[in-house]
Amino acid sequence: MTTMLQPGQMPAEAGGPTVTRIGVIGTGVMGADHARLLTEAVSGARVGGVFDVDGGRARGVAAASGGARVFADPYALIVDDGIDAVLIASSDATHEDYVLACVAAGKPVLCEKPLAPTVEACARIVEAEIEHGSRLITVGFMRRFDPGYTGMRALLTAGEIGAPLLMHNVHRNPAAVPGLPGSALITNSAVHELDIVRWLFGEEIVEVAVHTPRPSGQAGGTQDPQLLVLTTESGVLADVEIFANARYGYEVRCELVGETGTVTVDAPPPTSLRRGGLHARALPGDWRPRFAEAYRLELQDWIDGAAGGASAWDGFAATFVAHACVAALTSGDRHAVELPPVPALYRR
Ligand SMILES: NC(=O)c1ccc[n+]([C@@H]2O[C@H](COP(=O)([O-])OP(=O)(O)OC[C@H]3O[C@@H](n4cnc5c(N)ncnc54)[C@H](O)[C@@H]3O)[C@@H](O)[C@H]2O)c1
Repeated sequence: MTTMLQPGQMPAEAGGPTVTRIGVIGTGVMGADHARLLTEAVSGARVGGVFDVDGGRARGVAAASGGARVFADPYALIVDDGIDAVLIASSDATHEDYVLACVAAGKPVLCEKPLAPTVEACARIVEAEIEHGSRLITVGFMRRFDPGYTGMRALLTAGEIGAPLLMHNVHRNPAAVPGLPGSALITNSAVHELDIVRWLFGEEIVEVAVHTPRPSGQAGGTQDPQLLVLTTESGVLADVEIFANARYGYEVRCELVGETGTVTVDAPPPTSLRRGGLHARALPGDWRPRFAEAYRLELQDWIDGAAGGASAWDGFAATFVAHACVAALTSGDRHAVELPPVPALYRR
């Protein structure tokens, strides 16, 4: 077995101030944004190396990160002595091999969501981490750090709205790739809400259903939008509207309804315009401005070893529930979700 790190313990380069050298695999939209945050907005870390199958992208991000090393081989990056921890932001299907290599090398890894696209791949990752014997993996469910959602959880926990009954979620993007399978809206987008529902209520989703209106004419053949209805262990109902081709902008908001009040999460920009009979606020074009603070706090938590992020088990559970939703989408029926018992490594 390789070096045993304690949960949340982050290695760092020796001598001088404590700086953790991060290897970034995948330098597209998210990898570039994470590298920028690590360079400009997170303390105690720097980008030590990068890899992308698109060498031009890797070189661009390396240059913007103060001259990080560009690796020709991602597995050489993972085992390199000059890399203390790894951030994976390559496409979903590549996550499993890279996460397993990080676990084999005994290096902490922050893997973008989803942990892996299939339940079987997530199970292999969980088994590898259990075999390693301590937690190395964090999954990039950054909404757990969004001030809106943490505020909602604090009010719920303090009993400010009584027992929770319902949660209404809206998740809209301006445009998706034409021809995307309807299942991708669940496994890639709604997976954020599947995680946040488990995190918010501290209990599992036990039943799912997916309802579909007629598809939008703007959706390029995709079943879009979709309405997921999730039932938790204690009987809370959470609905999730996923609309990937909403055209007007990117928007994520939700309302939690309790027995004595409600809590709303929204992120309206502080500047608004009143003119010509309208009162308008700008909407972001994608998730990066909406969740900028959540990404920064997620990375800082990881670098600090505070272990506030989602575990490999959370990543497994989210993909497990997502596939139950895909089955419900296909059959049109409700589907029971029977997660296996939580392994000891992940019990709180
Ligand atoms: N947490 C969030 O809010 C959020 C938002 C968007 C995307 N994501 C996730 O982040 C990951 C990256 O998404 P993105 O939007 O940046 O996509 P992207 O297409 O912009 O970037 C993906 C990058 O991975 C590279 N790549 C492909 N195969 C590779 C391989 N085998 N090894 C190394 N690099 C490889 C591509 O060249 C590309 O540069 C995905 O897993 C996605 O689901 C998370």
